[in-house]
Amino acid sequence: MATYSYGACIDQAYRVNWKIKDVLGTVDFDLARPWLPADLSGSGGLFCLSPEEKRKLTHVEMGAYAHLVGFLETFIAPLMVDLALDSEEEDRQAFEALTNFASEEVKHMHLFREVSRRVDAALGFPLKLIGGQGEVTRAVLSRNKGAVLLLTAAIEWFTQQHYVSSMNHADDLDPLTREVFRCHWMEEAQHARLDQLEGLRLFKDMTVIEREEAVEDLVWLLAAVDDLLERQTLLDGLNLERYLGRTFTDGERGEILEGLLKAKRHCFLESGVSHPNFLELFLSVTTPSQRARVQGAVGLLVQKRPAPWASPD
Ligand SMILES: [Fe+2]
Ligand SMILES: [Fe+2]
Repeated sequence: MATYSYGACIDQAYRVNWKIKDVLGTVDFDLARPWLPADLSGSGGLFCLSPEEKRKLTHVEMGAYAHLVGFLETFIAPLMVDLALDSEEEDRQAFEALTNFASEEVKHMHLFREVSRRVDAALGFPLKLIGGQGEVTRAVLSRNKGAVLLLTAAIEWFTQQHYVSSMNHADDLDPLTREVFRCHWMEEAQHARLDQLEGLRLFKDMTVIEREEAVEDLVWLLAAVDDLLERQTLLDGLNLERYLGRTFTDGERGEILEGLLKAKRHCFLESGVSHPNFLELFLSVTTPSQRARVQGAVGLLVQKRPAPWASPD
């Protein structure tokens, strides 16, 4: 198993730390380019859209992707503050690394809110995006802390994979989008390592019953994430209709919802829980039957059909 340290994480965090104004600079999003790669946006598999419409879809989907990442980070900051308090007395490096982690997450939420504002300005209308962060955060944080930490680890490792595998060498991608997620990737690398350290620490002291509870709560949390993805997918369909200025047929609507939800589930569920570094932690804190329980639950979630096309208003 990879060994990380709180001291190395905080040193690296200070080395790569950036300011929002430096990330966003004075460059605007380039409407002539795709903003999100095909595997993350779902644009590749949609046959009812022309090449130009697919490019426009990536604009809408980057807005949704940035919003969802920021949305999920809403509960990570208070979780890290809570975990930091466990170490306040006896491990100063852990305390500082975790409170700095929380502070970076707050900065990321600000960054993604500013990204949303600029996306709306570039597209010429406000994207419909899911709300209710406060309610979702309270529900998530009421669950077993080990479960919330495992979900956090899955999220932070998928942010690493998405940038490295899909954005880093995508030369046709919009430069501002790449810069936003490059900077996010640099700071998230320390977060993912700290998740592993904290995950091992938390699970070490858990009883068998508490570990069972953590696994059941993780299944609940993954279903809650899927619900968010489904809600945003419906809004994405409406955003795309407005952006393209045309009304889709029922067949097109079905194809679009299925394609977008499939891509979102790949991004926000499958690529996290199957990431090798997440699995390293997951394997060390769960039994084979507990892992099968989670994998089975994810398998069922990704097969669920999307809700029918409807305006939420
Ligand atoms: Fe973040
Ligand atoms: Fe993070």
